[in-house]
Amino acid sequence: MKKLLFILPILLLLIACADANDKKSTKPAKKEKKADVKAPDGKKIFKIHCVLCHGADGKLGINGSKDLTKSEISLEEAITQITKGKGLMASYEPILSKEEIEAVAKYTQSLRE
Ligand code: HEC
Repeated sequence: MKKLLFILPILLLLIACADANDKKSTKPAKKEKKADVKAPDGKKIFKIHCVLCHGADGKLGINGSKDLTKSEISLEEAITQITKGKGLMASYEPILSKEEIEAVAKYTQSLRE
């Protein structure tokens, strides 16, 4: 009986914790799903993944990256280059979805003067 009294509070605590974890894990998952439904935001993706080398305006040119405002490649070529990478620019295939790559490629074209 003594043993049971000792185990019972621990058991209740475990159940309470598991319950709390459940609630936490379901909420963010729902949010992610909603974000996926919306079209990817090319500007946001650019700010996260591309500004480092290309700069916010596309002109930075770090590590020999091309000035995106002077880029003349087609949307198709840009998508291929972002997907597969070129020179010092890494492949974004493992990081971004097809839709995200297309959105960010379109955004880089909007930077052109
Ligand atoms: C590590 C630095 C680096 C990062 C980060 C980077 N790039 Fe680049 N990018 C480069 C370099 C270097 C080149 C030139 C490659 C070459 O032609 O040899 C380039 C070229 C390009 C070109 C082709 C321009 C042209 O006219 O040829 C596009 C489009 C481009 N990057 C888009 C992006 C996008 C979109 C992202 C973010 C998803 C990104 N880059 C992230 C370094 C980077």
